[in-house]
Amino acid sequence: MADSLPTPKPAPRFEDLRAILRYVPQFRQRIFVIAIDGALMGQNGFASLLQDVAVLQSLNIEVVLVFGVRAQMRTLAGSRGVSLSNDDGMGRTDPATLDVAIEAVTRQASSLMAELSALELPVVIASALSVHPAGVIDGIDQENTGRIERVDADSLRALLKADIIPILPPLGYDGRGATLRLNSDAVATEVAIALGATKVIFVSEAGLTQPDGRRMAQISVAEARELAKRRDTGLDINLLSKLRYAAVACAEGVPRVHLVDGTQDEALLSELFSNEGVGTMVHADDYQQIRRARSSDIAPLLSMMQQSVEDAALVPRTREQIQARIKDFFVLETDGNPIGCVAVHLHEGGPSGRMAELACLCVRRSHKGMGYGRKLVAFAEETARQKGCTQLLALSTQAPLFFQEKLGFQTSQPEAIPANRRQAYEQSGRNSRILIKALA
Ligand SMILES: CC(C)(COP(=O)(O)OP(=O)(O)OC[C@H]1O[C@@H](n2cnc3c(N)ncnc32)[C@H](O)[C@@H]1OP(=O)(O)O)[C@@H](O)C(=O)NCCC(=O)NCCS
Repeated sequence: MADSLPTPKPAPRFEDLRAILRYVPQFRQRIFVIAIDGALMGQNGFASLLQDVAVLQSLNIEVVLVFGVRAQMRTLAGSRGVSLSNDDGMGRTDPATLDVAIEAVTRQASSLMAELSALELPVVIASALSVHPAGVIDGIDQENTGRIERVDADSLRALLKADIIPILPPLGYDGRGATLRLNSDAVATEVAIALGATKVIFVSEAGLTQPDGRRMAQISVAEARELAKRRDTGLDINLLSKLRYAAVACAEGVPRVHLVDGTQDEALLSELFSNEGVGTMVHADDYQQIRRARSSDIAPLLSMMQQSVEDAALVPRTREQIQARIKDFFVLETDGNPIGCVAVHLHEGGPSGRMAELACLCVRRSHKGMGYGRKLVAFAEETARQKGCTQLLALSTQAPLFFQEKLGFQTSQPEAIPANRRQAYEQSGRNSRILIKALA
């Protein structure tokens, strides 16, 4: 009988490799704080997650690791018959719970050290946090729960400069010799802020999804804060904590925080090295922007539009035709890559006031169905409004329902098209649907 070999993975295409390598100079010598949930440790994919960490380190990304122990504490407490006063370091930690936490941390730190050393990664368990007891919160003495007062950023930086990965457990020590339990999300956040990290990546057992199961690919700080406060989302408390700390980190200057489902194969690298990602990115800066097109955008835009032109969804345009009206074209980019475009042409003398025409709306195939089309149309509406237009016209062969159902356009007749545009419409023979939206 023939040996059954695992199916080989398809070789990466050069196009993919180019896209990946684009990130490398951006990330070099940047600090990434990676917080791994305890629940992932010991699971099947955990070894490959650590290999991904090794890849980051090999690309000269400075990695700090933080780990949680909630799952291990639950297991240990069960086997010891201890009832935990709290398992995530956010509530009261009584002496028995602290004892369980210390054992869980010791075991986890030891197995992490062993696995990372096997990958020949230099690592050290770092004690870089000054902590105090959390004190009394809402009338409850938090006992052995701690609050982070200060991060010894200099000693962590010294380790990073020496290519050593610091590992921070969710425990801290105060000046009086007491051990205090910390929440690992809080540790990751405080460390990232103190080090001026470029990213915090929370790797947990699940990703952030909408009620219908669709991934939330990007959310703003305000949205993260809002979601973390709501109690009707059905999201796991673990994810709510990450959202809360993501908002804190971004508000304090960490540009991006990622929430990644660590049970997915290669999730960490896919999130960091692909434009669309696989997890959720919470962003502080203007990660996405719509800006006026430049001459240098024409080639990527033509290649993005090619398929839609072949499908007759878009009118063919030459480089020269776009260049001649470049001021009307806008590009939606994420992380500096164009992923969509729209043009807004002004027409004088529409039958019911000044009219703008939305044209050349296109979203890159890999990014469809993520709200970018609607975003571009909303942008075109606002642009037209600012130019004093009262109506927005769109001529579409294949997406009239998109304009009608998703964006409130109404179908109309050729007479609604301004006279100077109507002739070209009639001569084109495309028989596009005429869609108009009144701009309030
Ligand atoms: C039309 C287009 C711009 C939509 O972009 P997008 O980023 O996928 O759109 P969004 O993510 O904002 O919206 C997706 C929603 O619109 C719907 N939709 C997308 N294209 C549609 C179409 N051609 N007809 C009807 N509905 C459509 C999707 O089903 C989805 O619905 P849901 O939210 O209920 O699941 C994009 O598909 C495209 O580039 N098409 C080719 C070019 C084209 O036809 N341009 C319009 C000519 S001006």
